Amino acid sequence: MAGAHGKAYYVTTPIYYVNDAPHIGHAYTTTAGDVLTRWHRQRGEDVWFLTGVDEHGQKVMRAAEANGLAPQEWADRLVTDAWRPVLETINAANDDFIRTTETRHTRRVQDFVTKLHDGGHIFEGEYEAPYCVGCEEFKLAGDLLPGEGELEGQFLCPIHSRPVEIVSETNWFFRLSAFADRLIEHYELNPHAVQPQSAYNEVMSFIRQGLDDLSISRSTFDWGIDVPWDPDQVIYVWFDALLNYATAVGLGDSPTSEGGRKFANTWPADVHLVGKDILRFHAVIWPAMLMAAELPLPGMVFAHGWLLVGGEKMSKSKLTGIAPSQIIDHFGADAFRYYFLRAINFGQDGSFSWEDMSARYTSELANGLGNLASRATAMVGRYCDGVLPEPGALTNADRALIELLRTTVETTDAAMLRLEFSVGLASLKEFVDAVNLYVTEQEPWKVAKAVDDPVQVERLHTILYVMCECLRALSVLYSPVMPTAMGSLWSQLGADASLGSILEQRLQTAGHWGLLPVGSVVTKGDSLFPRLDDAEA
Ligand code: ME8
Ligand code: MG
Repeated sequence: MAGAHGKAYYVTTPIYYVNDAPHIGHAYTTTAGDVLTRWHRQRGEDVWFLTGVDEHGQKVMRAAEANGLAPQEWADRLVTDAWRPVLETINAANDDFIRTTETRHTRRVQDFVTKLHDGGHIFEGEYEAPYCVGCEEFKLAGDLLPGEGELEGQFLCPIHSRPVEIVSETNWFFRLSAFADRLIEHYELNPHAVQPQSAYNEVMSFIRQGLDDLSISRSTFDWGIDVPWDPDQVIYVWFDALLNYATAVGLGDSPTSEGGRKFANTWPADVHLVGKDILRFHAVIWPAMLMAAELPLPGMVFAHGWLLVGGEKMSKSKLTGIAPSQIIDHFGADAFRYYFLRAINFGQDGSFSWEDMSARYTSELANGLGNLASRATAMVGRYCDGVLPEPGALTNADRALIELLRTTVETTDAAMLRLEFSVGLASLKEFVDAVNLYVTEQEPWKVAKAVDDPVQVERLHTILYVMCECLRALSVLYSPVMPTAMGSLWSQLGADASLGSILEQRLQTAGHWGLLPVGSVVTKGDSLFPRLDDAEA
């Protein structure tokens, strides 16, 4: 991937509206992006991970008004109090954070639209269409639902269940219709450019119906970026927002400048991660904008499913959001990251429940991986004074585990590179289970009783070495998902001293055998995943 075209592996999340604070739906996308980019970093690749916020448009403007603040003050407050802190809460290692009110963005957006205007891709026209402020999107009549009860006679957005507003204005338009054929051709040649398959199919059938030109400016409010040649209008929030992926890395800057070099090193993005609610913007409008500007298209748009509450999309507008800290205060960031990627197939909808999260925490983290780590480190302490012993001859059971580790690394790596996080984590979990079963069957505590029998002592040493070496590999493999706990495990194994930082370990060699040096100082630290009392938040 990255190495193949000599540039950084570039991953983005949507830039989220600052109409309110983040909930676990936003944290879900950002966590997925963080795990994906940490995985690639752990493979030794050059990586760039961007996230940020979308500050313009009516949705944010109205939220600010409702709270008695100017839009910029409102946005500043939410960014400082909520959107930046949540990145620390979930332990995201993003390389950049963009706000659409920053000059680095607004200036480059204006240059971009000027270029499209000069190139004949933008024209003036009349427009009247239903608009959902929740989506910041013009709707097709066929997509709306009839209102009932109090809302009788009105038409509702199917996502926000709120009435649409009829917008009638003279606006600037982007000639989107002209790009339908080229989009179809592009996606036929690149069937993996939209994932999963269901998203690809939706996009193709949408484009095949023919595309309308797109209104890209608004004249009835002014919370946005001015249209450079017509300052009575502001640029439509989505046209502004989509460009963040390119403005953040230096779009339009001269090739020899810092921005120009950054752009050459990142563009095109490899993966735009989005929720399926905003698939069409990313897989139809965005590539058409890039085509108009003669820029390379992103490698892939991956549309994941929704976290549901009572069968509906969890949402800020509907006040059904759970704050990430509600879960993380109880389970910790590592378990949060693990749970959402393990329990939901990336690409499908899923529901969060405390019961399911507690059950998986207990069985897979506390009793599975955590217990394996505490058994191994405790036994090396008890039987070998905390010094990793030299293994003797290997038995079939040992060799089977070594072979399983090798195939597990291959399976997991392939799955993670395809963004099949739940598949990758399932294969690691099977390996943990296999090592725990090995320990149960080998019964090192019984072998340890024969202190005067050199054959048994050697066997004990081999079992302990096998356990620790499996944990050495597991800590590297799980590190992109659970960086804090795996950092602790790495130290408990004494691997820092001999092998260096866990971040320097390569996934490609994680399955090689015998890397943890005999003589490493093993310590039993705090348990990685403490058992939680039943009291829930
Ligand atoms: O759409 N389940 O911002 P937004 C899963 N500013 N993911 C969810 C979710 C849920 N229930 N709710 C939100 C916007 N998300 C625009 C984007 S990009 C150029 C501009 C996540 O604040 C998911 O990634 O409404 C979804 O696509 C995104 O948040 C929407 O965030
Ligand atoms: Mg939304």
